[in-house]
Amino acid sequence: MNELNLQTAFRAAGQGNVFSFWDVLTADERRSLLAQAAEIDLAEIDRLNRTLVLPSGSSTVDLTELAPAPYEKLPEHGGDAGDWRRAQGVGEEALRHGRVAAFTVAGGQGTRLGYDGPKGTFQVTPVKQKSLFQVFAEKIAAAGRRYGRPLHWFIMTSQSNHAATEAFFAERQHFGLDRSRIHFLRQGRLPAVDFTGRIMLAGKADIALSPDGHGGSFRALHRHGAFDLMQSEGIDLISYFQVDNPLARSIDPAFLGWHLLRNSEMSSKMVPKAYPEERLGHFCVQRGRLVIVEYSDLPLALQREIDPATSQLRYLAGSIAIHVIDREFARRMATGGEGAALPFHRADKKVSTVDTAGRLVQPEKANGVKFEMFIFDALPFARNPIVIETRRADEFSPVKNAEGVDSPRTAREDQLRQFARWLAGQGVPIDTDATGLPRLSVEVSPLFGFDEDTFAESWKRLSPKPSVTDGIYLSPSS
Ligand code: UD1
Repeated sequence: MNELNLQTAFRAAGQGNVFSFWDVLTADERRSLLAQAAEIDLAEIDRLNRTLVLPSGSSTVDLTELAPAPYEKLPEHGGDAGDWRRAQGVGEEALRHGRVAAFTVAGGQGTRLGYDGPKGTFQVTPVKQKSLFQVFAEKIAAAGRRYGRPLHWFIMTSQSNHAATEAFFAERQHFGLDRSRIHFLRQGRLPAVDFTGRIMLAGKADIALSPDGHGGSFRALHRHGAFDLMQSEGIDLISYFQVDNPLARSIDPAFLGWHLLRNSEMSSKMVPKAYPEERLGHFCVQRGRLVIVEYSDLPLALQREIDPATSQLRYLAGSIAIHVIDREFARRMATGGEGAALPFHRADKKVSTVDTAGRLVQPEKANGVKFEMFIFDALPFARNPIVIETRRADEFSPVKNAEGVDSPRTAREDQLRQFARWLAGQGVPIDTDATGLPRLSVEVSPLFGFDEDTFAESWKRLSPKPSVTDGIYLSPSS
């Protein structure tokens, strides 16, 4: 659309205010404003205004007919060990055939952590201070080597961290991965609107745009041609995880196997919630469909409810935001095939904006609405979605807050506990406290072992065995 058409379209949609300062803008500013305006789907904003912004009364999440979702239990909790072994074998076969790509969502801002750079560049490991990105890079490299097929890795960034993310990888030679298999996808943006539905300006030449949520990843993959690339490479399974969790198994054969054996289009991992108020999404079933109800949406009374049959929390299954997603299902979610479409969530926020004179206004209370999509809202559209249990200690210790729970410190300690357990499993005596936290610092490179079994294989091959002293780092060159 050319400049005039774009302005006309915005005026016709009642959004002409976006160009209020046009006459005083420089040529560069005009170009920039037009580029931002071109990102906006006016029909979508109109729909969001009619459904989410203008109707009076706050929209509440539908909690009717909700029940806890079933999940596949681990063998130690009563699951069938034979089924888990079969799943492992099927997943390994898929990896040997190169059917899997890794996908990290890394577009978030890291505001709660109080860290300025892209979250993936945050240093998390106990000895080598590796970044989250390096940890995942090594896990992905290790899986590629083990199954003889190097993996493609898709990383979703946002407008604000894209360049810094790419530069970080380039400066580190992409951690030894094949550059042509790493794909950075910038996620889309949506404008904030005021309470009357008018698109807000963050400056005279700047629309108040913000990332469209991790649910924007379907669109981002589609826009960047990722589905076609995957198809031409014979990839039909997407291993999805968040950038904030260093313990995430980027590639997990058993999980892939469960997904395939159950003919699922989107599968998820759960851990039993550690305490009722833990800030996790809850796996539930609603009218025959699998859904996730966010911690902020499930009333505390329900989060605390105890199931008398098990004496455990009734809504026990917490989401750790790890999924296997079928390529064609993801494409359907991106393009609206078969009526599939992610809903948008409304968040009322303080949006810095400009007044009619172009002066910057920092609001004291929420003055606008931002829209976001969540990946897990795709679950009700998926055929045969399954949930499997995973061990928290092996797979979930996110870095979300600067201090306290889910902080760099807890993530560091959980890595230490994991490495100590692996060593103890090989008969290496490790002095720990009652929580399993070793008294010395150890680190295992994912290239040496990315889970207990691969660690055991490498350890057994080591001869002579190194003495385990403070600061020991086990890597392929150990
Ligand atoms: C999220 C989940 C929650 C889950 C928990 C597990 C939501 C709404 N909730 O909570 O159900 O139990 O993780 O740790 O997601 N991201 C983008 N682009 C965006 C927004 C986010 O890429 O526009 C990425 C972030 O980089 C991060 C992930 O999505 O990797 C999670 O986002 P965050 O907003 O931190 O979710 P949580 O509230 O922690």
